[in-house]
Amino acid sequence: MRHLIGVDIGTSGAKTVLFDEAGNPLASKTAEYPLYQPQNGWAEQNPEHWWDAVVSTLSEVLKQSGVPKESVAGIGLSGQMHGLVMLDNRGDVLRNSIIWCDGRTTKQCDKITEKVGAKRLMEITGNPALPGFTASKILWVRENEPEIYAKCAHILLPKDYIRYKLTRVFATEVSDASGMNLMDIPGRHWSDEILECLEINRSLLADLYESYEVTGEVTPEAAALTGLAAGTPVVGGAGDNAAAAVGTGVVETGRAFTTIGTSGVIFAHTDKVLIEPAGKVHTFCAAVPGGWTVMSCTLAAGGSLQWFRNNFCAPEVAVAQDMEIDPYELIVAQAAKVPIGAGRLLFLPFLMGERSPLLNSDARGVFFGLSGVHTRRDMLRAVLEGIVYSQRDCLDVLRGMGVTFDRMMATGGGARSSLLRQMLADNYNCPVVAADSQEGPAKGVAILAGVGTGVYKSVPEACNSVLSDHTAQLPDPDRHAAYTPYYELYKSVYTQLKGQFTTLAKL
Ligand code: XUL
Repeated sequence: MRHLIGVDIGTSGAKTVLFDEAGNPLASKTAEYPLYQPQNGWAEQNPEHWWDAVVSTLSEVLKQSGVPKESVAGIGLSGQMHGLVMLDNRGDVLRNSIIWCDGRTTKQCDKITEKVGAKRLMEITGNPALPGFTASKILWVRENEPEIYAKCAHILLPKDYIRYKLTRVFATEVSDASGMNLMDIPGRHWSDEILECLEINRSLLADLYESYEVTGEVTPEAAALTGLAAGTPVVGGAGDNAAAAVGTGVVETGRAFTTIGTSGVIFAHTDKVLIEPAGKVHTFCAAVPGGWTVMSCTLAAGGSLQWFRNNFCAPEVAVAQDMEIDPYELIVAQAAKVPIGAGRLLFLPFLMGERSPLLNSDARGVFFGLSGVHTRRDMLRAVLEGIVYSQRDCLDVLRGMGVTFDRMMATGGGARSSLLRQMLADNYNCPVVAADSQEGPAKGVAILAGVGTGVYKSVPEACNSVLSDHTAQLPDPDRHAAYTPYYELYKSVYTQLKGQFTTLAKL
């Protein structure tokens, strides 16, 4: 029996899962690491923490599963997209990674748009210049930390730093590199035109592969640290969303999924390049050769719930620890007791600014309608509803582009909750199906590793054979109607506050 490993460098932690070739998870380990917010709206992580988490989880899954290391046919890497990792010419990390939800680079985005031209930028990269994306982060370091930029010899994305540590190879792949604002998305290669305009040396960037292709092999040094066999192939892998697409079977047109992780994502597969003219949602290469995606991303979906948990749910966290259960089970159970509308309380989940569909780094979170009658439980319900409205707002954009699907897969930590899945179904007005496994991205890249090493013939074939179907939660028309006025008000509160967010950001 051959085995496959998927590693996912998430925002809250790294998850490593070992699968058999039938797709069953045999061992799974997660190790958490901190997120730093040195200023309001900034977000950074230390790449060495990612690597430590990968070393520990890899060795633990190998031990726990008891499978011989030589039976691991391949490894796939997935991770949070867009993060900027800069290495010097010895391969040492130069500064903390500026990650996907960091909003400091609005000025650099304006510069990129001015240099390349808004229309040309959309045509080539499929997207406008966005603060979350990597190009503006590179320009920010060049302008604000010139001494670091001068030493920079390699620019990598988070999972590709892990690849470098495992294989000593500088490589990336099309799905993750799509989120850098530096690629020709229709052509699936680096754009010389963009690189020239932005004066970024091509030699700083990694070699670009398709997601299933083998990019390198585990070195003896990394093997000694992790317990893997030296020579184990490492395939391109995918950005976390493209990886989750493979892990949920969203690999052909007409399929879509929602992730409620730290970010909130709605992702649809397309067989041609489809661009939203205002850039409200992203266009990227899929992890499937010849496939693309349209995808929305909100910056604090599960992130808002995590914020609420960290600041207001100490009792649930303590009880959950005693009971050895997930604190979110207790937290979400309370929200279920509050009726739709949270007693006329709304929450706007813009704790990190907002990307899709608002494209506004200055936006911030809001409780609207707070009254003396409200309790913590109502606030919690409002947070969940706000998260769901923000996804509904994105889905309206995708639907407006003609994206169709008959059901929505749901994945990510948030989608473990049947209440949240039902809220999505009622708001989207379509059936919502819990994905096969919560291994989402890790499973997706394990599948890609299987394709790259010949365990499976192709991505769609592998998805057909290793993923199974689950029961859908159906939308309820009455609940859809009950949510709708709150959803409309949610959108109008943002519109009314837009100018005030800009004023607030300048104080
Ligand atoms: C996608 C995005 C996030 C990160 C973190 O554009 O920024 O989904 O990949 O999960």
